[in-house]
Amino acid sequence: MLIFPLTALLFAASSASAQDIIYNAAHNVTPITGTWSSGSRHVVTGPGFANPSQETFTYPNTTGVGYSFSDDGWYEIARYRFASNASEPNCIIGTVVWAHGHYELVGNGSIILTPVGDGYQQVQAPCAATSNFIQNYNFTELFDHWQIFMDPTDGPKLHLFQFDGSPVAPLFQLSPDPNMLPKQVLRNVSANVVTTTSDGLVSTETLASRKKKRSAAPELKQPMGMVAGLVVMAMVSTLL
Ligand SMILES: *[C@@H]1O[C@H](CO)[C@@H](O)[C@H](O)[C@H]1NC(C)=O
Ligand SMILES: *[C@@H]1O[C@H](CO)[C@@H](O)[C@H](O)[C@H]1NC(C)=O
Ligand SMILES: *[C@@H]1O[C@H](CO)[C@@H](O)[C@H](O)[C@H]1NC(C)=O
Ligand SMILES: *[C@@H]1O[C@H](CO)[C@@H](O)[C@H](O)[C@H]1NC(C)=O
Ligand SMILES: *[C@@H]1O[C@H](CO)[C@@H](O)[C@H](O)[C@H]1NC(C)=O
Repeated sequence: MLIFPLTALLFAASSASAQDIIYNAAHNVTPITGTWSSGSRHVVTGPGFANPSQETFTYPNTTGVGYSFSDDGWYEIARYRFASNASEPNCIIGTVVWAHGHYELVGNGSIILTPVGDGYQQVQAPCAATSNFIQNYNFTELFDHWQIFMDPTDGPKLHLFQFDGSPVAPLFQLSPDPNMLPKQVLRNVSANVVTTTSDGLVSTETLASRKKKRSAAPELKQPMGMVAGLVVMAMVSTLL
C-alpha cells in the first residue's frame, strides 16, 4: 500500500525539522499550528469559505488570505483578492482560491506546501475573452522562511516570506486549532475536461463548472474601501 510509506515520510520529515525550529521571543513564540488570517480577519479557511464538491465559495466581506496548519501535517489556504493591471487600470482581476494538502517545515527554515490536487479558483477578468470562470488550482508554494511574533494587542502574528523574500501580509492567529475542511481529497478532478477558448488559451475546466457555464460563476464585487490595497500581480497572466 502506498499510504504507509508516505505517512512515514511525512512523519520523519516533521519530526526531524521540529528539532531545528527554535521557539523563542526572537523567532517563533508559538507553533505554526492553528488558524491564521490577514487584515480584518474575514478570510478564514474551512466550511465558511469553500464548498469543494460544489466548487463554490462564500465570498468574505473583505479581501485577504487565511491559512490553517494542523499538527499532523495538513495545511489549507483561502485567498480572496483583486489586482489591477498596470497597463489597463480598469481591468481589475478578482481571484478566489481554495486549496489544501501537506506542509513540510524544512530544517533550513523554509515551508513547502504541496497540494493534493483538489484545489480550485474563480477568476474574474473583465477584459479577457472568458471573463469569469472556475478552474483547478494546484500550485506548490515555497515560503523561504517564517516567524511568529507576539503582538502586544493582536497576540501571535505569523509572518511568511515568499521565495523571493517578499513578505505576505501578516497573519493573526484566530485559534490555536486549525479550522479545516476534511483532510482528504474533496473534489473529483478526474472528471476534468480541457478546452481551448476562442482566444487560443487552454484552460482546464471541471464538469461542475461546465454545468454552471450558462449562468456563469457568480459575480465578484469588490468590497468597499479596498482600492488602496490593490496589488499588481504579474503572475495573474499565467493563471488565465
Ligand atoms: C458580511 O456582512 C454581512 C452584514 O454584516 C453579514 O450578514 C454577512 O454574514 C457577512 N458575510 C460573511 C461571509 O461574513
Ligand atoms: C498537484 O500537485 C502536486 C504537487 O506538484 C502533484 O503531486 C499532484 O499530482 C497534483 N495533482 C493533480 C491532480 O494535478
Ligand atoms: C530549503 O530547502 C528547500 C528544499 O530543499 C529549498 O527548496 C529551499 O530553497 C531552501 N530554503 C532556503 C532558505 O535555503
Ligand atoms: C470521477 O469522475 C469520473 C468521470 O465522471 C468517474 O468515472 C469516476 O468514477 C469519479 N470518481 C469518483 C471517486 O467519484
Ligand atoms: C494587462 O493588460 C494588457 C493589455 O490589455 C494585457 O496584454 C496583459 O495580459 C494584462 N495583464 C494581466 C496580468 O492581466
